[in-house]
Amino acid sequence: MAEISRKLFLFSILLAFFGNTRLTNANEVDQNDEATVEIEEDDQYVSPELNSDNVYLSEHFDDENAFKRKWIKSEAKKQGVDENIAKYDGKWEIQQPIRKILKNDFGLVLTTEAKHAAISTLLDKPFEFKNKPLIVQYEVTMQEGQNCGGAYIKLLSKGTNTKADLRKFHDQTPYTIMFGPDKCGNDNKLHFIFRHKNPKNGTIEEKHSKKPTQRLDDIYKDKEPHLYTLIVRPDNTFSILVDNKEVNAGSLLEDFTPPVNPPEEIDDPNDKKPEDWDEREKIVDPSATKPDDWDETEPAQIKDPNAIKPEGWLDDEPEMIPDPSAVKPSDWDEEMDGTWEAALVDNPACESAPGCGQWAPPTVPNPNYKGIWRAPLIPNPNYKGKWNPRRIPNPDYFKDDHPFQMTPIHGVGFELWSMSPMLLFDNVLVTDDFALAERWAQQTFVLKKAKLSRDSDSFLDRGLKYAGDNPWVYAVVILGAFLVIGFVTYLLCGPKSEPEADPKKTDAFVEDDPHQSEAEEDLKEEEPREKPTKTKADLEGPEEEVENVTLTTEASPTETEGAGDGHRKRKPRKE
Ligand SMILES: *[C@@H]1O[C@H](CO)[C@@H](O)[C@H](O)[C@H]1NC(C)=O
Repeated sequence: MAEISRKLFLFSILLAFFGNTRLTNANEVDQNDEATVEIEEDDQYVSPELNSDNVYLSEHFDDENAFKRKWIKSEAKKQGVDENIAKYDGKWEIQQPIRKILKNDFGLVLTTEAKHAAISTLLDKPFEFKNKPLIVQYEVTMQEGQNCGGAYIKLLSKGTNTKADLRKFHDQTPYTIMFGPDKCGNDNKLHFIFRHKNPKNGTIEEKHSKKPTQRLDDIYKDKEPHLYTLIVRPDNTFSILVDNKEVNAGSLLEDFTPPVNPPEEIDDPNDKKPEDWDEREKIVDPSATKPDDWDETEPAQIKDPNAIKPEGWLDDEPEMIPDPSAVKPSDWDEEMDGTWEAALVDNPACESAPGCGQWAPPTVPNPNYKGIWRAPLIPNPNYKGKWNPRRIPNPDYFKDDHPFQMTPIHGVGFELWSMSPMLLFDNVLVTDDFALAERWAQQTFVLKKAKLSRDSDSFLDRGLKYAGDNPWVYAVVILGAFLVIGFVTYLLCGPKSEPEADPKKTDAFVEDDPHQSEAEEDLKEEEPREKPTKTKADLEGPEEEVENVTLTTEASPTETEGAGDGHRKRKPRKE
């Protein structure tokens, strides 16, 4: 069968090849108009310009000189990691995508893998969180996919104000918001983290948004451009869009871990359960006594007192007897082999009798059996219910009704670690007007997607259109189909010339290669090992806040586990 499919496969490739060549050639000659139109459409891309007071940063990366003036590569070292990987020495280049989509469209590419890399720029003017929303939008193409690494953007807090500050950009540079994709192994994230300042004592704590409503696996695999948009509004709501579709939305006050506002009351840590607090709902009835007639010695089973030995029982006949037809072998040596004994066989005398040997009555359950006596349970008169510590006002309580009012943003940057190279970033925008973000996307991302879908459709489309204009193509297709059917029939019914090839050695696509999937499994298992340095360190805040931030970082996995627990708890209830 494998051999047949291999031949079929090759045959169809030949068909497709010749068919394609013919169609394409004909297309070029006959359909010149359409081809011209397509080129014109490609040319429609011009680097977008948004001149508006509502724009804080717009970067299309098409002008390398302008880029070099504005963006600063970090010369810092990552703190708390091994000296030889501490440097931010990942390479950033202005490049066209590997798979060219639009003419004259460039992006910022992190070309290296497994190196720390950081680059940033100042906003044209600071963004202050007042009465306008914050909209951050950018594109990422994971040109070689992503196994383990981030592609998120950091919105740098006031304090990163000069190019000299940008040169020092590192993992602990204070940011106001961190937003974007991050993945390691099977753990996919679309971060939205903001750093909230405790109004009581000024401590800064990371707040992590709830998870997106759907799994976003494709963005790490399909190697296509994806658009990420974050909207944070003065009414403390937020939305996250991927490719212009909402994947997460909620409230800064309600959908973050840990919550912005601590609980008003907490368990009193000094309240202890009283010694005499009785939490037993039921107790053994203390007044109950064993009834006099309760005999614990009665056995559970007794010999049936009503059983009678069946008539004709042969008490003196054994059930088995030595085989009367057996003979001692001639070479049996009594001294060496011991006394010879015939093998035992069923006693033929018992065949017609109800039984042989000593008769015993069968056992039956004992009607007087009681077992060990136990006193019954009764409601505990001293039961006080489950003990809970007293609630007291939370000494750390505060109420911040305006978490939107975050630390002003002065810059944006990428501070990343990626196990896959060639991450392409494009069209970074910070604005307070969503309509501008939409327009910006129309001039960039939407054009790209349209071109991509035209490219993937174009072969089929052109074929269909050509066939529509030249009906004889259908005749050729039908004839071709007959040829294929004939060919298959020949292969199936004709003489078998070669033995079946080992499927692993054919060129044909083999779906279930166990070795391959094993290898993939191994890969998956290995992936998470590569990250630990990264996740932890990347989520850590500035040095002076390490203590609090570490707390938060640890709170995040707990949240994940919590979700898992929820599933585990729900299940049994259903069953
Ligand atoms: C500020 O308050 C929080 C509790 O709300 C506490 O965890 C933190 O340690 C405090 N920081 C300082 C510097 O006192």
